[in-house]
Amino acid sequence: MKQKVRKAVLPVAGLGTRFLPATKASPKEMLPIVDKPMIQYIVEEAKESGVEQVILVTGRGKQAIENHFDTSSELERILEQKGEEKLLREIQKISNLVSFCYVRQKEALGLGHAVLCASEAVGNEPFAVLLGDMIIDSETPGLKQLMDVYEHYKDPVIGVSRVEQSEVSRYGIIKANQVSSGVHEVLDLIEKPSPEKAPSNLAIIGRYILPPEIFDILERTSPGANGEIQLTDALKKVLDNTALFACEIKGKVHDGGSKLGFLKATVELALKNPELGDDFRQYLKGLDL
Ligand code: G1P
Repeated sequence: MKQKVRKAVLPVAGLGTRFLPATKASPKEMLPIVDKPMIQYIVEEAKESGVEQVILVTGRGKQAIENHFDTSSELERILEQKGEEKLLREIQKISNLVSFCYVRQKEALGLGHAVLCASEAVGNEPFAVLLGDMIIDSETPGLKQLMDVYEHYKDPVIGVSRVEQSEVSRYGIIKANQVSSGVHEVLDLIEKPSPEKAPSNLAIIGRYILPPEIFDILERTSPGANGEIQLTDALKKVLDNTALFACEIKGKVHDGGSKLGFLKATVELALKNPELGDDFRQYLKGLDL
């Protein structure tokens, strides 16, 4: 793979069952962390990593996401009339981040299937995948860290992070050989293993740079863990033809799709917020913990 990565696929069709009842009628991707919906953090990370087009794989009940990244002339007019210049610029920035494209996943058949739905929109070029519930708080944007490894090796790359042994069954786990500081060559992958079967504690954290050949592989991939078509299973087949690298993300990875992970992300990002941070820190210090 030598081409530049221009496109990113963001699967957002999931039902958000881990976050019920909040997600009964609202997309989980629109839950706000401090003052931005989670999905905006992901789109910003993609843009800051050099992505030009974001392909959102959506499903039923996800219109709020499309509206969020669209222009809102009425809102803009009102903000203009009120002289709210700063807010106006902020709102306009959202719809100009990147170019957006939407495809629909008609049935929830798994992450691998969601990525496959984007095959026509991606075409024959390497592309990124970012999962909306993993929020990366880092100096260098998470996906940019993968891009740097990709530039060097010219092979597919996945983002990983070390997790507690007791948590491995929530993730795709890799078996790998370290090739340089924080970079590993992947030897094998297993989706949601039991702690006894996990070959390491290096977990896939929802960032990928993939070759277009993955689409043919996904078409032939049968359902795996949880009866779903798994991207991890397709990646295992990628290993037959090419090397695959894993980049240990430098920074904090929050699982915003779980209630506790979402709370941790909220507290940490609120403490860093230039407008709220100081007051919020004061408030937390005053709590009787
Ligand atoms: C997906 C992937 C898994 C990865 C995880 C990260 O699982 O299949 O390999 O570790 O995302 O969040 P899901 O959380 O969709 O079950």
